[in-house]
Amino acid sequence: MTKITWKPGTMLSPVPPALISCGSMENPNVMTAAWTGIICSDPTLVYVSIRPSRYSNEIIRKTNEFVINVPSVKIARAVDWCGVKSGRNVNKFKETGLTPIASSLINAPQIKESPISLECKVKQITSYGTHDMFLAEVVAVDVDDEYIGKKNELNLDKAELLAYAHGFYYALGKKIGKFGWSVEKKSTIKKRAARLKYEKSANKNLDKKTKKGSVHDRKKN
Ligand SMILES: Cc1cc2nc3c(=O)[nH]c(=O)nc-3n(C[C@H](O)[C@H](O)[C@H](O)COP(=O)(O)O)c2cc1C
Repeated sequence: MTKITWKPGTMLSPVPPALISCGSMENPNVMTAAWTGIICSDPTLVYVSIRPSRYSNEIIRKTNEFVINVPSVKIARAVDWCGVKSGRNVNKFKETGLTPIASSLINAPQIKESPISLECKVKQITSYGTHDMFLAEVVAVDVDDEYIGKKNELNLDKAELLAYAHGFYYALGKKIGKFGWSVEKKSTIKKRAARLKYEKSANKNLDKKTKKGSVHDRKKN
């Protein structure tokens, strides 16, 4: 394998094609931004880079707030649409069917259909050239309870998150490991596999019982 060296470019992939919502519940706007990411864990700092020409840039400069909505495959079309139309000319919520809902700590609305929304307050705006970087603190994280399990764990594999790489959208593939699994002891891996197997068969038995129950109920009726 030989690597070919290209000129510098924004080739970091995959990235989330995030929906950045801003404005207010009365006048909401949303744009797609793939140039977004995490800067620091504590304080929780993130950024989004937005061209000065975007309507959202103008709004966020005024309100100093925005929400990063992590998109799923289900809203992929809306994600693309919000990235080619400007809120200066259209109401993107009306046109796409996305639902603006109130955030918990800021006035900027978040998107109901997004599995995870990060409420952000701007701390600094830096112009680098083509894009202005809005550095912001995450003041709250809102998660769709559909993806929260019995032990309060977040099951993001069920959320079918959307990724963006070099001009194309992708659905995330299957879960293949967890943080630190490459250095886990074999005995821990075996124990987890056994537990998963047990849970799977227990769930199957439960399913059978429930199905039997429903047949019985139907007969009675
Ligand atoms: C996948 C995708 C990623 C995008 N990423 C960015 C971005 O990171 N920054 C940016 O300024 N524009 C980005 N855009 C373009 C804006 O979303 C687009 O210009 C949009 O119409 C701006 O909306 P507004 O004028 O309502 O703010 C992206 C578009 C798409 C489709």
